[in-house]
Formats: sequence, C-alpha cells, structure tokens
Amino acid sequence: MKGIILAGGTGSRLWPITHATSKQLLPVWDKPMVFYPLSTLMLAGIRDILIITAKGQTDAFAGLLGDGKQFGINLTYAEQDAPNGIAEALLIGREFLNGEPCALILGDNLFHGDSLGERLRGAAKRHTGATVFVHAVRDPERYGVMAFDPDGQPLDIIEKPSNPPSNLAVTGLYFFDASAPDRVADLVPSARGELEITDLNRSYLEDRELTVEMLGRGCAWLDTGTPASLLQAAQFVYSVEERQGLKIGSPEETAWRLGWIDRDALTRSAGFSAASDYGRYLNDMANSPDVSPPSFGMVLSSDRAELFFNSQPQEMTRRAGHD
Ligand code: G1P
Repeated sequence: MKGIILAGGTGSRLWPITHATSKQLLPVWDKPMVFYPLSTLMLAGIRDILIITAKGQTDAFAGLLGDGKQFGINLTYAEQDAPNGIAEALLIGREFLNGEPCALILGDNLFHGDSLGERLRGAAKRHTGATVFVHAVRDPERYGVMAFDPDGQPLDIIEKPSNPPSNLAVTGLYFFDASAPDRVADLVPSARGELEITDLNRSYLEDRELTVEMLGRGCAWLDTGTPASLLQAAQFVYSVEERQGLKIGSPEETAWRLGWIDRDALTRSAGFSAASDYGRYLNDMANSPDVSPPSFGMVLSSDRAELFFNSQPQEMTRRAGHD
C-alpha cells in the first residue's frame, strides 16, 4: 500500500504565521507538524509516500525530509497548484499510485493512542472499499460528520453541518482501494469550489463499501489549523512526552523500531541534532541495547515486523542482527 500526505492549503486561519512558510512545517512542540502524519503512515506499515505541498513549497519540505532514506522509506513530492480540495490529492497522486490502494492523511492531523498501529495495519490489509476513522469531538460542525441509522449503521456523511447528526467527526486519515482516483474524476466540485473528500467517502458508502472505524476515547485526535488548536496539540505532546520520556511522532524512532533502519542510520540522524533534546533522545536509543522500551512492544519474524503499543508487559525482543 502507498501513502499520500496532503500538506497543501494556504494556512489562512494561521495568518500571518503562515505568510512565508507552510503550516505543516510549523512546530508542534519539539518537531515539525509533518513528522506526526508521516509517523502515522509509517506505523501503518507504509514505506512509499508522496508528499503533496502547496505551490512553491516542495523545496522546503524536501529540505527537511529529503528522499526519506534516513527513515528507511521512499519519499516523493508533488504540488497542489490551488486549494482545490482534499480529494484532488488522489488525482495529483494518480501516477504515483499506479493502480495501487493507498492511505491518505492530512498534514495537520495528529493521532496518538494505544494499539493505533494495529488498527491502522488492519485497515491497510483491506484492499477493497474504503476505511474512515471517526472520533468524538465537542464541535462536530467544524468537520465531516457521520450520521447513523437507528441500528447504528453508517447512513451518511455531512460536511460541516449546522445541525450535526452525531458528535462523531470523520478524521483526516482515509484508506482507499484502487478505484479512488476514478471516483474523484467523477466528482463535481462543491459550492466552495472544492473536490470534497466527504463526497468521495460518500460514494463508497453508497456502494456499501465504506468501513467506519471508531477511535475511542483512549485515542487522541488533534488538528492544528488554528492558533488555539496548534497550541493545544503542542501542549498535549509536551505533557505526554515530559511524563513518559517517550516521544510522539518521531519518524526515526518508528523506523528504528520497525527494523527499517540500522543502528548506524539512527546514530547519523541523532548527530544532526546533537544539541537538541530530540537528538539526545535518538542518540540514547541508538546506544541502548534494547529496541523496545516498556510501552512499545515489537515482535520480529523473518519476513515482517509487527509493532504494537502494549498496555500489558510484553517480552522484549532484541532486534535481530544488531545486538
Ligand atoms: C477536512 C474535511 C473534513 C474532515 C477534516 C479533518 O476539513 O473536509 O471532512 O473532518 O478535514 O481534519 P477541513 O480541514 O477542510 O476544514
């Protein structure tokens, strides 16, 4: 499965912060925003990722992330010339996808929670239909909102409803089968002139090919599109990281624990930021004999790595060939 990060848009709700830089390059506490969705796709087991930026922003993203080799992945870049809607990402990425299914994540969405990796890899295994994740929010009118029938079956998705049919927002992480670009090609732009992701999801729902998964209250879903939500996300990451001594949204750590990079590569990455807490964190990891800290379990078999956040103590497995 391939991945797409949509890091376009004008960031107008964050102006003037976004006047000369991209929203998805702004810091969320100790790392650039795009690190979080990138780590989420990696956690889903996805290694071939297209990053779609706003016009003229590719160089800035490529300067930060390069070709992805330092994370054991393959990154390519494309631009969205104008904010024509989230669904347009599937058209821009059509050649990159080359007829394969994909996960699409918004560059300003942050996910964190126990067993999230397992859930994502489960969705990545479905190669027909689409999967969306819903999460409870206090202000559903700001999002795409899921409506359910009396039996609790998904009935409709309504974009930014003034009278929300539920408090369950559709998050900015979508898994699509190979038919997605063709479906987008058939969509008509909405009143705000955009190819709406909600219309694409609705086309799967109408074909009874939409899986709706609930992210429970043990999962955090944050977006970062306004000054207040950006600050909240930073405070969340700060609080959890300070308490646990474990970082959220580090692509280097995810790559290391999945066995996608070796100890030398991790040490090299740490060296780039030796003066920062982030660099020291990577360095400590590279110098530790174990791959798994207490809350981050991993099992390696010969042909694949299973990684999971565990609530119960798990036997630690040393990384084959490196210790
Ligand atoms: C977009 C989608 C909406 C979704 C949200 C998640 O909203 O249109 O359906 O719930 O992302 O972040 P926008 O960011 O365009 O307001």
